[in-house]
Amino acid sequence: MFFSIASSILMAGVAGYSYLQTSSSPINDTEKIKTIFRNSGWIGANGETMRLHRKSKFKNGTEYVFQLPLGFDRNKIESNKQILEDGLNTRHKYLLFQPSDLLTIKLDKTILRQIKTILTTKKISKKEVVFDFDGMLRIKVYNSPMPPKIEWNESMLLKNFKVIVGYTREGKPIVHDFDKAKHLIIAGATGYGKSVAMKLFVTSLIHQEPINTKLSLIDLKGGSAFHRYKDCKQVEYYARDPKEAEQTLKKIQERMNSSFKKVVDNGYKDVKEAGIKERHFVFIDEAADLADYPQAMEIITDIARRGRSAGYYLVFCTQYPTIEVIPSQTKRNIIARLCYVLDTSIASNVVLDEAGAEDLPDIPGRGIYKNLRSTIVQTPFMIRLMTSCKEVHHD
Ligand SMILES: Nc1ncnc2c1ncn2[C@@H]1O[C@H](COP(=O)(O)OP(=O)(O)OP(=O)(O)O)[C@@H](O)[C@H]1O
Ligand SMILES: [Mg+2]
Repeated sequence: MFFSIASSILMAGVAGYSYLQTSSSPINDTEKIKTIFRNSGWIGANGETMRLHRKSKFKNGTEYVFQLPLGFDRNKIESNKQILEDGLNTRHKYLLFQPSDLLTIKLDKTILRQIKTILTTKKISKKEVVFDFDGMLRIKVYNSPMPPKIEWNESMLLKNFKVIVGYTREGKPIVHDFDKAKHLIIAGATGYGKSVAMKLFVTSLIHQEPINTKLSLIDLKGGSAFHRYKDCKQVEYYARDPKEAEQTLKKIQERMNSSFKKVVDNGYKDVKEAGIKERHFVFIDEAADLADYPQAMEIITDIARRGRSAGYYLVFCTQYPTIEVIPSQTKRNIIARLCYVLDTSIASNVVLDEAGAEDLPDIPGRGIYKNLRSTIVQTPFMIRLMTSCKEVHHD
């Protein structure tokens, strides 16, 4: 079973001048990692140390593959992660001097000052480290950090009901295909990009499938997320308060029932197999506001369970991931998760069934998309959102 710890660590880097002033030669990353292992007691039952199995370079960094010693308590990776992170975060005495910098130096009496200026104005080097465990411990050290912002552009539109949830560190787009993965939970602390992601998905779906996309937008944060879409022809329901949302959910459930019957009674697995083109998306921005409305919560669970076949897909978003807000039955039926930074590993576990979201950096749009396996992504940012539906009507 794949077990992964993904942790973004900003490591090292430093003005070269302080290096010259202070010191001993910089130790390389291999030595550094080994030292951290040694100092933090990462050893096997009989005192064996971690063995570097392979080291390989890739485009933007180096991967170290370690074989865990026999009897090594794997839980140590999780519980001691902080030690490893702290160790890797200690300032690297890193000389960032490029040979080309020498060409700019004039040979006169100011030479020492020129060198000092070059060294002190060099940019701080930041490396990012990601751990994965799949029988071997894989440590990827990236030479430069993931871009903190990716601007959306039209080339990011896909076909049908697929949307890009974000780009990996290597620039690979990660796609959520609603017809395959179906529903999606979006979680994250306030201000880290949940609504931005939902608007990206709504806009993409309207652009890509203007005829077959049907939307129910439940906008419980006072209409801040979806108000601009409410007059779009794709929008069947728009609700702004929990009572209205409950009534809306009842209507959605009735419609879902008839679609479900049509699909299942004819022996099909789902709408796709039945050749039905329409898909209904129920976007809920802030699900916690419905936690005190048991009927609404029941319907949400029902949509999560039966909507998969009926072509009713939920995008369930919350800032408060607790078992009250995401009941286990709802969660069981929503495999895909998109999780931005959270404050605790407990909250991360509620969303992702694993820790990790608490270690994401404080960067809006930086999240973990989990659909069987977890991937760190940067969600594109749509700067110009639609202000009127005219822009999305293709007919
Ligand atoms: N993918 C992104 N890339 C860059 N910046 C982003 C991204 N997502 C969000 N931001 C920035 O963060 C701000 C807050 O984002 P957003 O409104 O989506 O947060 P939220 O998670 O919905 O917060 P809340 O829980 O308070 O509703 C945005 O206005 C934008 O400036
Ligand atoms: Mg929001």
